[in-house]
Amino acid sequence: MDNFLTALSTSLAEGTFISLTLSKPRGPHTDDRIKRETVRPVEVRGQSRYQLTRQYPQRETHENLDADEVVRRVSLGLGSVLKHAHLFTTDSDIAARSNQPGDYRVSVSPPSKRVPSSVAHDRKKQHLISEGRPCPFLHELGVMSADGRVHRAKQDKFRQINRFLEFVEDVIPHLPSEGPLDVVDFGCGLSYLTFALHHLLTVIHSREVRILGIDQNAHVIDRCNQTCKTLKLQGIEFTAEAIDAPSTSRKVHLAVALHACDTATDDALAQAVRWQADVILAAPCCQHELAPQLESDALTLLTRHGILKERLAAMSTDALRAAVLEQAGYRTQVIEFIDTEHTPKNLLLRAIRRKDNTPNAQHMTHIEELKTLLGIKHLRLATLLGNHSPE
Ligand SMILES: C[S@@+](CC[C@H](N)C(=O)[O-])C[C@H]1O[C@@H](n2cnc3c(N)ncnc32)[C@H](O)[C@@H]1O
Repeated sequence: MDNFLTALSTSLAEGTFISLTLSKPRGPHTDDRIKRETVRPVEVRGQSRYQLTRQYPQRETHENLDADEVVRRVSLGLGSVLKHAHLFTTDSDIAARSNQPGDYRVSVSPPSKRVPSSVAHDRKKQHLISEGRPCPFLHELGVMSADGRVHRAKQDKFRQINRFLEFVEDVIPHLPSEGPLDVVDFGCGLSYLTFALHHLLTVIHSREVRILGIDQNAHVIDRCNQTCKTLKLQGIEFTAEAIDAPSTSRKVHLAVALHACDTATDDALAQAVRWQADVILAAPCCQHELAPQLESDALTLLTRHGILKERLAAMSTDALRAAVLEQAGYRTQVIEFIDTEHTPKNLLLRAIRRKDNTPNAQHMTHIEELKTLLGIKHLRLATLLGNHSPE
């Protein structure tokens, strides 16, 4: 059976998996006996999952699992619960048959099934960068092989990159439709997402870009510049400096700050507003500014538990940031960046500069009300933008 499980695991990791059927129940007939199991790929909120359907004599159950859990379930049930298994991949059909528990015969035959067009279509639609197609920057950054296979350990990173690109794709209508696009990525780090942005705008949308990645860590900036050189990329550069003291002053169409630590997000948001960026995408990281300030008798039941206090502080920080951005002339939404299963840092602030950017007095009132309720005295973003009013 090891051969069968290895083939199953490989097909899931390499994306050649089409479906799996387990049949021929072992043991006496009862109402609780599993008659048959099938596994097929599905998309759940943008994530690749595998739906396990179990048929019992009078009911059916469905579960959406990740690849490792599929292999684990099959290793538990095959032979002891169901005697036959048929794995269909794009390369071959593989059958395992067990007459006695612990005794299996595995046979391999040419592929008899094709990828259902609906799944292929969905995958294409979901992923702006598709698996199986070579992508030089992802190869250079160690996410995929030269022939386009995403390395198993980098599946989450690959999904995160595609998810981020979907958000950028959604805001493209709010950027100038002609001429070079100016983009700044604050706290770019190793710049998987900055290079992805460059790929989306230049390769997929054929736009001329001037992308600047800023990070205070000179070591990562050296690596990013090296990657640019190796890939001979045009229109992207990196500079080692602090977010709150950038040496450039430029018109920015799109400002990005993804997981910049703590109040570095506020520095980035403030800088983006001063530059009047058309669109700001910011995924906050850890938030430490408000937790020590929270002081409110009415909230004692929340603040007496450290973990709840942290979460309340984090939520309040992002709610206040969104409101301050609204106040500064942006239509702002707080949305889920990536499934919480993959990272707790899963929020994205999406701010689009309003054409009619008159300050909204109601937001100012709400900001003050929430600060009073929580006992907040200092809010960095509000302080940084104290003198800023929409033009
Ligand atoms: C967690 S990494 C995120 C990297 C990348 N944006 C991503 O999401 O994959 C945060 C980066 O922000 C940089 N950073 C934090 N505070 C900064 C500041 N005040 N000025 C410049 N860079 C900063 C760090 O050096 C680090 O590389």
